[in-house]
Amino acid sequence: MICQRHDFATLNQCCRSLAEHIVATARQCVAQRDLFTLVASGGSTPKSLYRLLAAPGFAEQMPWQQTHLFWGDERCVAADHPDSNFRMVKEALLAQGGPVAPTVHRMPGEMTPREGAAAYEKELRTFFGSGGHETISWPVFDLILLGLGSDGHTASLFPDSPALAEQTRWVTATSPGILDPQVDRLTLTIPTINNGTEVIFLVAGAEKKALAERILTDRQASTLYPAARITSQSKLLWYIADA
Ligand code: 6PG
Repeated sequence: MICQRHDFATLNQCCRSLAEHIVATARQCVAQRDLFTLVASGGSTPKSLYRLLAAPGFAEQMPWQQTHLFWGDERCVAADHPDSNFRMVKEALLAQGGPVAPTVHRMPGEMTPREGAAAYEKELRTFFGSGGHETISWPVFDLILLGLGSDGHTASLFPDSPALAEQTRWVTATSPGILDPQVDRLTLTIPTINNGTEVIFLVAGAEKKALAERILTDRQASTLYPAARITSQSKLLWYIADA
């Protein structure tokens, strides 16, 4: 596994470089097998990235027709709730019109957490297992975007959560961590994320940059921060903006 770090002075520069990487990766995946599976991260930092991917210069470069869009985690709220990660991605990316028309696999945050996790796992197993009759252990997403919480969480994998020990399910439900919003969540599990081909953290701000550096350098970090338990099958990239 290749682990690379890319530092930028501003979030705009960081997102522009990351958008170029996503487009290049998407086009390479589509050239090879006419498909690109992308996992969106939630929160607020990636809004700038999603807006860029929907803007001229990037939108027409992306192979949206062959792109399948998934979520790494979701808050257990309605799809139009202000805290919904689906709503955030819809407003920043999907509703921008133009060529942006991926196939959307929304996490059903409106269901009860247990039902929502089971339903999304079923959708993933159908998508990744479709065709062959073989059961596969883990899905292989082409590119998984992740954020970093100030407590070291990623997706909705919070410190001390039982979800950190999940080694069978692809998707699980979690209680809220210490950070807002204080609602139950749905999240991809660590083995699901770590089976992704490329996993990319997008981090912005001095506090999170310092946390990212601890995660990248402190061998004990994995005992403290869930994000430090994340690996990948090919590349683990950190896109870090100072501000
Ligand atoms: C969520 C996210 C979460 C997020 C981090 C960073 O549902 O909140 O998936 O993992 O990526 O909390 O969030 P910010 O980008 O808003 O700081």
